[in-house]
Amino acid sequence: MQAGTSRIAERISSIGVSSTMKVAAEAGKLRAQGVDLVDFGAGEPDFPTPGNIKQAAIRALEQNFTKYTPASGAADLKQAVCERHARDYGTAYTPAETIITVGGKHAIFNLTQALVNPGDEVVIPVPYWVTYKDVVNYAGGKCVFVETDEANGFTLTASLIEKQLTPRTRMVIINSPANPSGALVERIEFERIFKLAADRGIYLLTDECYCRFLYDSEPFSIASLPGAKQTAVVAGSLSKTYAMTGWRIGFALAPAPIVTAMVKLQSHSTSNPTSIAQKAAVEALTGPQDSVTAMLCEYRRRRDYVVARLRAIPGVTCAEPRGAFYAYPNVSVALGRGIRDTLEMAERLLAEARVAVVPGEAFGTDRHIRISYAASMTELERGLDRLHEFIVRNS
Ligand SMILES: Cc1ncc(COP(=O)(O)O)c(C=O)c1O
Repeated sequence: MQAGTSRIAERISSIGVSSTMKVAAEAGKLRAQGVDLVDFGAGEPDFPTPGNIKQAAIRALEQNFTKYTPASGAADLKQAVCERHARDYGTAYTPAETIITVGGKHAIFNLTQALVNPGDEVVIPVPYWVTYKDVVNYAGGKCVFVETDEANGFTLTASLIEKQLTPRTRMVIINSPANPSGALVERIEFERIFKLAADRGIYLLTDECYCRFLYDSEPFSIASLPGAKQTAVVAGSLSKTYAMTGWRIGFALAPAPIVTAMVKLQSHSTSNPTSIAQKAAVEALTGPQDSVTAMLCEYRRRRDYVVARLRAIPGVTCAEPRGAFYAYPNVSVALGRGIRDTLEMAERLLAEARVAVVPGEAFGTDRHIRISYAASMTELERGLDRLHEFIVRNS
């Protein structure tokens, strides 16, 4: 028996290290060594947190708002979340149906732990955000993957979901717009998916992390449908919307008994999210929203540039992202000869071309890489020059 490994609890071996975090760590190491690196790996805005939000945190410090808050989050923040959601999407949540979490990821973790029993099936569209798979595995659930068609821009339809529903299905996870593809679930399909799930008593977890970053459609929440609050559970995050990744504030909106269960879990793990960050979050949600509009505008400009540059690389195809800030090009033209798979491609891109990307294997596909265009135009230009040259050289 190997003492070091055998002592780790089994449930930990059911999950892996987040691949996006791995890339970020590797890129950070190289940068610390002074390597001239272009980082397309990080899924975080390159914009600073807006000044009004930072000022609110400073005020919180000066006013000694530095103690525990309720485990479920401060009352004014829960209220602000409900009001913002009502304003943006026309929903009607109350603070009793709201929990503030340590980032959106924590909301998804808590929701999954509160709802999924061992053996329960959870339907996850592919390509998926890495964390869904691991949190479901951690809860002892079984991931049931739904393949989408790249030729249709990875668009998800209700009929694709329906084929995977069984009496054991407990939850369907939808992320629209999606990380890593930028695909959007059309409103009509989203409503059909919701109905399919609701009719069977299946929860629909809607991850709204990128909901404010849509390029050609209006923000929409499935929770705004009449009666949807019974089986739709919302995971939200301030990380991307307000360039607040390091502040770690997210939330969930769900029926009160589910929120109560999540609060119970949270009270024994993190307790409340950081008090100061919660005050900053109140300002983010209630203050001026023009920084969100400005960021969206800039992401759109970058999206257009990145997609055009990727499509100009011989043999590379790229579905048009309709939201979020990722492009997910098919790079199979450079696979199969010298480079085995996208894991090796990402490694060699970093080592040889000094560009950090996330391999598609992390998202459940084997011919893509994820490029985050939450980077300046100068960086995008430099990195895409390098990527272009690398793919041409290896095709
Ligand atoms: C799809 C998706 N959901 C949720 C999150 C959670 O973000 P955070 O925990 O920073 O709020 C992320 C972050 O990358 C994401 O990409």
